[in-house]
Amino acid sequence: MNHSALHPAGLHAAQIAHLGWIFLAVSCVVYVVVIGILIVVLVQRRRHGSDPTTLSRAERRALTSVGIAVGITTVLVTCLAVSEFLTRRTLEQDTGEPLRVRIIGHQWWWEVQYQSDTAAGQVQTANELHIPVGRPVQLQMTSQDVIHSFWVPNLQGKRDLIPGHTTHIVLVADQAGRYEGQCAEFCGFQHAKMRIVVDAQRPADFDAWRQAQLQPAREPASEQEKRGKQVFDSGTCVMCHSIQGSPAGGTIGPDLTHVGSRSSIAAGALPNTPQTLALWISNPPAIKPGTTMPAAALSGEDLLSLALYLESLK
Ligand code: CUA
Repeated sequence: MNHSALHPAGLHAAQIAHLGWIFLAVSCVVYVVVIGILIVVLVQRRRHGSDPTTLSRAERRALTSVGIAVGITTVLVTCLAVSEFLTRRTLEQDTGEPLRVRIIGHQWWWEVQYQSDTAAGQVQTANELHIPVGRPVQLQMTSQDVIHSFWVPNLQGKRDLIPGHTTHIVLVADQAGRYEGQCAEFCGFQHAKMRIVVDAQRPADFDAWRQAQLQPAREPASEQEKRGKQVFDSGTCVMCHSIQGSPAGGTIGPDLTHVGSRSSIAAGALPNTPQTLALWISNPPAIKPGTTMPAAALSGEDLLSLALYLESLK
């Protein structure tokens, strides 16, 4: 679903949307009343004329109305501030036993780590957040470099990711579906290509996804995939990327253990197919100028084998 704060799919987003509609309705009423009074006064002035040296009865009446209007404005602004405060408080309430996920912002991608009491239960992925419908998910967020902002409008408001500091946000999805999000804080050249997708799944589907992600990477099956793995292991890829169950243990770039199961690559810059992956690997700066991933000097055959191997990692 395209991101829209007007179509809430979760408790928190619904509260924010509700507050937004209250603000809009109050503002509209105030606007109509103010413009209405202005028109009435202007028409009256035109009809009766005015003497600038004395206050007419109508003008004295107008001054009293201004006093009343200031009083009403104070009451309205106070009510709106209180409703905003109450909404914010309910948004930050921790509910039950949430699923805990750590999110780390990078220029320009999202590192996603599912927390677990045991090291074996931790899932690492990137740019895609899978969550079970109906269960609160607590995101513990920080940044590796500059300030980013996590924003999936259908599910929650924005929250900054700040280097050296952890911020929290809780979200719940009421309906299964894919919800798109976007980094909402200018974080450099490729800020616009820093998308995130939240896939809200039925609890059984989520458990199946999590189990699949916990498995080590699939071994290459075909000759071409074997060649691709060789290219990966013997080249510079391993300095930045990890593939669980293989010697590759780099931590600078996204974990690639199940990269083939993701819907897009380069934080939503391209759909995930062997062709786009080969295009990306051959020259990342052409697609995301400023990215830290360098172009790989590979022969056409090596490049294709590498892309097919990575796509096989479902
Ligand atoms: Cu990250 Cu904008």
